[in-house]
Amino acid sequence: MEDIAKLQIGENSYEFPLVKGTENEVAIDVKTLRGATNGVITIDPGYKNTGACLSAITFLDGEKGILRYRGYSIEELAEKADFLEVAYLLIFGELPTKEQLEQFHADIKDKAIVDDDVRKIIDAFPKSAHPMGILSSLTSALTAFNPSSVNVDSEEDMYRAIVKIMGKFPVLVAWAMRKIQGMPLNYGSNSLGYVENVMTMMFAKPNEDYVINPIVKNALDKLLILHADHEQNCSTSTVRIVGSSHAGLFASLSAGISALWGPLHGGANQAVLEMLEAIKQDGGDTKKYMAKAKDKNDPFRLMGFGHRVYKNFDPRAKIIKEVADQVLNDLGVEDPILEIAKGLEQEALSDPYFVDRKLYPNVDFYSGIIYRAMGIPVEMFTVMFALGRLPGWIAQWREMRLGKEPIGRPRQIYTGENHREFKNISQR
Ligand code: CMC
Repeated sequence: MEDIAKLQIGENSYEFPLVKGTENEVAIDVKTLRGATNGVITIDPGYKNTGACLSAITFLDGEKGILRYRGYSIEELAEKADFLEVAYLLIFGELPTKEQLEQFHADIKDKAIVDDDVRKIIDAFPKSAHPMGILSSLTSALTAFNPSSVNVDSEEDMYRAIVKIMGKFPVLVAWAMRKIQGMPLNYGSNSLGYVENVMTMMFAKPNEDYVINPIVKNALDKLLILHADHEQNCSTSTVRIVGSSHAGLFASLSAGISALWGPLHGGANQAVLEMLEAIKQDGGDTKKYMAKAKDKNDPFRLMGFGHRVYKNFDPRAKIIKEVADQVLNDLGVEDPILEIAKGLEQEALSDPYFVDRKLYPNVDFYSGIIYRAMGIPVEMFTVMFALGRLPGWIAQWREMRLGKEPIGRPRQIYTGENHREFKNISQR
């Protein structure tokens, strides 16, 4: 392939260089387009064809169903690594040595206390508040308790900010859940592993010892790893674009949490469970809901199906389906909605509407069933996604700041009124 792209506009022709990634993905570098063409821009709503950056963190091939963090396959990481190792890998680029991992964990534990005044903010929320709203607000509020901005030219400063948020975020996650459940806010214990401590903070009752179930711990580790990064998705792009204005890390993360909340993105895991529950209440007639999903006059979509990038099986969904079977089996939970989910999947995989549009189950289709088996309330599902995505957001923010990327500022094609004279109110 020639390494230039040629563009003809009227009489004039222009050449633009091609950029190639390490997996041979190709982009046309249009940085000079507007200047060279006297104002012509590209338009691409939803950025379906637009690369926003070069990134060395996550590779995914939606056609082949491949997902890799820093070159390691998601299947291998989910089987062999734990969440903290994956977090380190994503953020710093290499798997940690034993010493590096221990130091990282020790530094995180050292910062894992939030200012006690955060409790007052939580107190002010009504119990009906959605925990994603609580989490986004509290993450933003952390800025007030940690006002000094990160000097991104100092590795030490950057590291300090990263371990701070890795330490405090699980506390906020657990407290968001305990708030809606009316449970006293607690800290876990620094003697525990990262994921064990999250579980303790979430589930420990004030009047009994909390014993960690290894099946649940193992499943949670996997779920967090599977959610840890997914290149330039909506929330990650939000974190990068907010951070590109040099807003701080915590403020950028708070914006990312809001982006994740939507049902077309991370909020889908809650929406899936509500959908499956509604189908069960309605007599379990999956065919009826398949028909609704295909009816263009009906806004209903089969939640947990389809993906902007995957046009083949979402590799995360394959792993999660196995984990769901295992966890429900091991915990002895019989959840009728697992059967409804499997039924929907079977029908969709052989239905021309879904086959033609390449709509497969995505990461959110089975995750809610596992969370429910673990005793996590449905409103918390997207919060669990955020907990998993935290290292990915941090890694992407760090890459963007270290790369000295310019402020994100798209252009537009204006389609409104041309210039008109102002009329006084009496003349309108
Ligand atoms: N149910 C029924 N039809 C669908 C669905 C669905 N879940 N998803 C896409 N379609 C149809 C859509 O109507 C369109 O049909 P047509 O070509 O006839 O107009 C076609 O498939 C292409 O859909 P699109 O909306 O143009 O695709 P997109 O890339 O803009 O949207 C999506 C991707 C994930 C937002 C969409 O598939 C969807 O809404 N899925 C349900 C929500 C969901 O599960 N989201 C979680 C995504 S994975 C977690 C994450 O990383 O956020």
